[in-house]
Amino acid sequence: MSTGPCEPAPGHPGGPGGGVDRDRDHAGDRAGDPEFAPATRGLVVVGPGASFGSDLLRRFGREGFALGVVSRSADTLTRVRDELAEDGLAVHGAVADVTDQPALTTAIQRVAADVGGLTVLVYNAKLSIRGGALTVKAETMNQTLAVNVTGALTAVQVAADLLVDRPAATILLTTAGSRTEPVAGRFALAIGKAGLAALADAVRPMLAARGVRLRTVVLDGRVDAAGPLRPGVVADHFWQAFAAPRGDVFRLAPARRATPVAQLPLEV
Ligand SMILES: NC(=O)c1ccc[n+]([C@@H]2O[C@H](COP(=O)([O-])OP(=O)(O)OC[C@H]3O[C@@H](n4cnc5c(N)ncnc54)[C@H](OP(=O)(O)O)[C@@H]3O)[C@@H](O)[C@H]2O)c1
Repeated sequence: MSTGPCEPAPGHPGGPGGGVDRDRDHAGDRAGDPEFAPATRGLVVVGPGASFGSDLLRRFGREGFALGVVSRSADTLTRVRDELAEDGLAVHGAVADVTDQPALTTAIQRVAADVGGLTVLVYNAKLSIRGGALTVKAETMNQTLAVNVTGALTAVQVAADLLVDRPAATILLTTAGSRTEPVAGRFALAIGKAGLAALADAVRPMLAARGVRLRTVVLDGRVDAAGPLRPGVVADHFWQAFAAPRGDVFRLAPARRATPVAQLPLEV
């Protein structure tokens, strides 16, 4: 697994206002050429969530992307639409449970068509049911894996077909910091996110052969308006993860506090 830089190369069209990649070996080779640019660049976010989903959509909307959401609940869809409407941005949407493979497939296909064709798919859905390693129930593990891993695989499978021949075709998977010792009570989520990262590594070469980039966005800290990871910064990180010319894994961690270094007197 390689770790990619977050900043696009100087002058790269993937910078603000850009978002395409001249350096790839596959379909993206033509992405920077306006004559090959698709009429519409479309983003579909599966599971926008409460922490930063609207910020992420807004960030891509500012770059001219048509926006779409697949959500488990109609309430989330309405909330996201209302928030984006304040910026004059429309959001296409469909409701589907990610553990329902036919429903998720249909929803992604429909929203991708609504946004004028898929350019970027973000799989952001997660389920976290509390339980420790030695006590968690098998059913809890299965439910968690169904949302965090199996649902992601369905989304990748559907997107893979929709992204072929689309310039700058990209799938972004949201993961969390790896935990050799999972945070107490979040065992199932930790295993789910590790599974998602493993899925990304296993599928990436097959997608690359089709000209589709698969990148993981690792959020290595809590996202909150008060920090340590602020939603606007997270949203920008997703944009950079899309726009960067190369790289597979894009990690965002809170800036470390400068720890004071003990000063010894010159002569003791
Ligand atoms: N927040 C953090 O501090 C943090 C830190 C590191 C990584 N992350 C990652 O960032 C992403 C978003 O986090 P968040 O805090 O915004 O999460 P969240 O508020 O819990 O949102 C999770 C999303 O997943 C959807 N979802 C859950 N089960 C589903 C199902 N069966 N079918 C369809 N959708 C389903 C939820 O749908 P509904 O809206 O309909 O409920 C929601 O939109 C997650 O992948 C998370 O692991 C977050």
